[in-house]
Amino acid sequence: MTAPAEPSARRRGDEPSRSRSALPRCRIAFAALTAASLALPLAHAQAADKQQIARGKYLVNVGSCTDCHTPGHFFGKEEPGKFLAGSDVGFAIPGLGVFVAPNLTPDDATGLGKWTPAQVAAAITAGKTPEGRMLAPAMPSHNYASMTKSDALAIAAYLKSLPPVQHQVPGPFGPTQTPTSFVMVVVPGDVYAHIANPSPTPPSK
Ligand code: HEC
Repeated sequence: MTAPAEPSARRRGDEPSRSRSALPRCRIAFAALTAASLALPLAHAQAADKQQIARGKYLVNVGSCTDCHTPGHFFGKEEPGKFLAGSDVGFAIPGLGVFVAPNLTPDDATGLGKWTPAQVAAAITAGKTPEGRMLAPAMPSHNYASMTKSDALAIAAYLKSLPPVQHQVPGPFGPTQTPTSFVMVVVPGDVYAHIANPSPTPPSK
């Protein structure tokens, strides 16, 4: 009986050492699985964020938000370091006043830093600020009204991802106020012909 006893003794002898090493391995595997299950949704969320921001960037460029909201644009040369940080030219709306396209970067004091993504989306598609002011029609919200909610939120996500730039635009100016910005205005041809310097160069900053 010694012969069959030996292998079983060997097996018994093996077991403790096998289970000693198997337990930590099992714990490691469990920890790795838990980490992976936590990391996976995070990686998915990060990829989704990246996709949303890329979509927003695309829409901001094809939607020409850059033209009206970047200083220097209407003078043919955008100011370096002030991408989407607010224009230097106001739009004159007869009877309403002059409106300069504001800073869209996430600066808290002068930009959209304190706006929620939903508030940014509402300004784009409904022309309404968080304080309830209706934006002048120089901001083409009426054209953006048919934008899907997810596209408007993608634009908001992209704007939030920009480096914040401190730049306060002047205005809005009432119809009787003298604007401190340049003004884009529609005039009849003969009035235009008599303007001494119809295309002034902006003061160098
Ligand atoms: C034709 C010029 C023009 C274009 C194009 C334009 N905007 Fe504007 N936008 C303005 C003007 C002007 C205002 C300010 C109106 C006012 O103060 O009543 C404004 C206001 C805003 C505001 C409110 C900001 C604030 O601080 O009150 C947001 C947000 C905004 N625009 C986002 C966008 C986005 C995003 C796009 C592109 C999808 C865009 N705009 C395209 C001219 C433009």
